[in-house]
Amino acid sequence: MRVVCLISGSGSNLQALIDCERHGQLGTATLVGVIANRQDAQGLKRAASAMIPTHVVDHRSYADRLAFDRALIDVIDPLKPDLVVLAGFMRILSDPFVEHYKGRLINIHPSLLPKYKGLDTHQRALASGDKTAGATVHWVTQALDSGEIIRQIEVPILPDDTADSLQARVLAAEHTLYPSVVRDLSLGVISPCDA
Ligand code: GRF
Repeated sequence: MRVVCLISGSGSNLQALIDCERHGQLGTATLVGVIANRQDAQGLKRAASAMIPTHVVDHRSYADRLAFDRALIDVIDPLKPDLVVLAGFMRILSDPFVEHYKGRLINIHPSLLPKYKGLDTHQRALASGDKTAGATVHWVTQALDSGEIIRQIEVPILPDDTADSLQARVLAAEHTLYPSVVRDLSLGVISPCDA
């Protein structure tokens, strides 16, 4: 299963995927490309260290979202992906892009969806007095953070937690969750969906 990963920043989830592939724990999945919308995305260095081809498509070079998304497709499609993995990709994707990759586009979101779509998820979980938080991997559909849930992981919220400490605990859990989903999709343990 050919996997293309889209990032904007640190790429710690990408690193988890790289590490699992290196240790033979990613089923039949192979990372065939990493694309960032920023030249300074740290994850590009992680990919380069793992000898994965990298590409930058800088959103600031395009007149609008549709033009940027078309440029992204022009870079992604030649990589012939079976799965496009959003891992901290901080751009909202247009409807034509989502439609183009329908059923092979997944995202990880740092909350127990359907709670806390969008930003500031950890702060909002703390403010609500929740006892648990977590992360969700879901199929990407046109409505933000609303596609069918594939798998979730839960972590406790501790009495002294700040948004930062909770974020760190959730992120560590994401590093288990995301590779497990990619592996299970590659092995057919999780079925593709119609998104
Ligand atoms: C993660 O918390 C993920 O859930 C969210 O963006 C963050 C990406 O972190 N979508 P990293 O770049 O993988 O370290």
